[in-house]
Amino acid sequence: MLDVVNLSHTYGEGPNAHQALGGIDLKVAEGEMVCVVGPSGCGKSTLLRSIAGLIRPTEGQIRIRETTVADTPGDLAVVFQDYSRSLFPWMSVGDNVALPLRRRGKDRTARRAAAAEALEEVGLAAASSKFPWELSGGMQQRVAIARALAYRPSLLLMDEPFGSVDAQTREDLEDLVLKVREHHRMTVLLITHDIDESVYVGDRVVVLTRSPARVAGELSVDLPFPRDQIATRELPAFVHLRAEVGRLVRAKKESPPVQV
Ligand SMILES: Nc1ncnc2c1ncn2[C@@H]1O[C@H](COP(=O)(O)OP(=O)(O)OP(=O)(O)O)[C@@H](O)[C@H]1O
Ligand SMILES: [Mg+2]
Repeated sequence: MLDVVNLSHTYGEGPNAHQALGGIDLKVAEGEMVCVVGPSGCGKSTLLRSIAGLIRPTEGQIRIRETTVADTPGDLAVVFQDYSRSLFPWMSVGDNVALPLRRRGKDRTARRAAAAEALEEVGLAAASSKFPWELSGGMQQRVAIARALAYRPSLLLMDEPFGSVDAQTREDLEDLVLKVREHHRMTVLLITHDIDESVYVGDRVVVLTRSPARVAGELSVDLPFPRDQIATRELPAFVHLRAEVGRLVRAKKESPPVQV
């Protein structure tokens, strides 16, 4: 589904140049949920923006279903880290969620119904006629998630989507993303700095090194479905995987990639 080959990106030029990505290779299969974990500032958002076609990487290739990414692919939805800039402040919450559905060729009634259903799923059915700036940060992020889910993309990119919500909501949204991906056979690439979250939702966890980011190692998560916030996290296999991811995150940049 997604194939990232030797991706490098350097911001700026000359003495101000900063290499954010140092040659990343990453494959995501159809229907897979891959979590990318890495230290703060290592280049995770740069990787996501490159895949979304929003920045042109200085080196390397990105292919989505064999098509090279030149600009933003149509069947893709992105949930950005910075929720405060991802909604249109002059549009109601319902209209924000419904807007991208125009590209799906849905009529007005169908768009409204899909938006209402997605808002219901994130627990914001009552906020539909409010404006984004009338909501808390966590609520705005849930609206952005609802908008992405309503679109039913075949590839969903999420950049630390649950960073600004409380712990309970975070767990609910993790389960929601698992459910929707199962239901609609979506492929998901989720960026997080939360090791537990990466193991809980992922089929696979890819760990990046410090800047310039490279793949430090990756692990398959063979935990049973459906996952459960309490039972899954108690499994010895979960505890083991969490420790392994933690080790990779803390590993020195110089060490060679580890395959577990
Ligand atoms: N537009 C830009 N111009 C110049 N440098 C940038 C730009 N965007 C990011 N950088 C730099 O590139 C590096 C990687 O940034 P990026 O936002 O991709 O990291 P991140 O892993 O997403 O960080 P965080 O964990 O804080 O979200 C950082 O050192 C950052 O300062
Ligand atoms: Mg980031």
